[in-house]
Amino acid sequence: MINRKDEFLEIMKSKLQGRRFIHSLNVAAAAKKLAKRYGADVEKAYICGLLHDIMKNSPYAEQYEYMMQFSDIPEVVIEINKLWHAPAGAAFVRDVLGIDDPEMISAIKYHTTGKANMTLLEKVIYIADFISEEREYPGVDEVRKAAFEDIDKAVLIGTRFTLEELLDQNREINQDTIDAYNEVCRKFNY
Ligand SMILES: [Fe+2]
Ligand SMILES: [Fe+2]
Repeated sequence: MINRKDEFLEIMKSKLQGRRFIHSLNVAAAAKKLAKRYGADVEKAYICGLLHDIMKNSPYAEQYEYMMQFSDIPEVVIEINKLWHAPAGAAFVRDVLGIDDPEMISAIKYHTTGKANMTLLEKVIYIADFISEEREYPGVDEVRKAAFEDIDKAVLIGTRFTLEELLDQNREINQDTIDAYNEVCRKFNY
């Protein structure tokens, strides 16, 4: 997989450019660090981090088409086009780039919403996206700190952050995000 790193870098550069390309590099770097910290597969983490937003600049019609290669896309995701790039990217890396590792595909598919029972690699990508170097949002330092102390704590903070934002804006909430939140919540006995 790592021998395809240069190929993937070129694809990302052509598909995203500018700040989104920088974001991809930063998420890849953060994912690598987290993988080292927790003993996840470092190469898989780097590649997933690099590729996670691969469809982000693609027209919605194209994103929709790739997303619908999955038969289990929740209604809430179909209704919110900002969420399409995650499952669309997962289908793209599987069907176009030929990545056949189910865990990598799943890590990309759920990088925005999270889900219950995330594997370590899925958590690494979910959190790497929150803490990538260029991110500046209130509370980012808290997530960065938690990310290297206990990744589940970071998942708790990250999902809570997403849920609060959605509630504040009167937006629909994806069940997968609630499931991810509940699972880590239970762990910390809140
Ligand atoms: Fe994304
Ligand atoms: Fe991202």
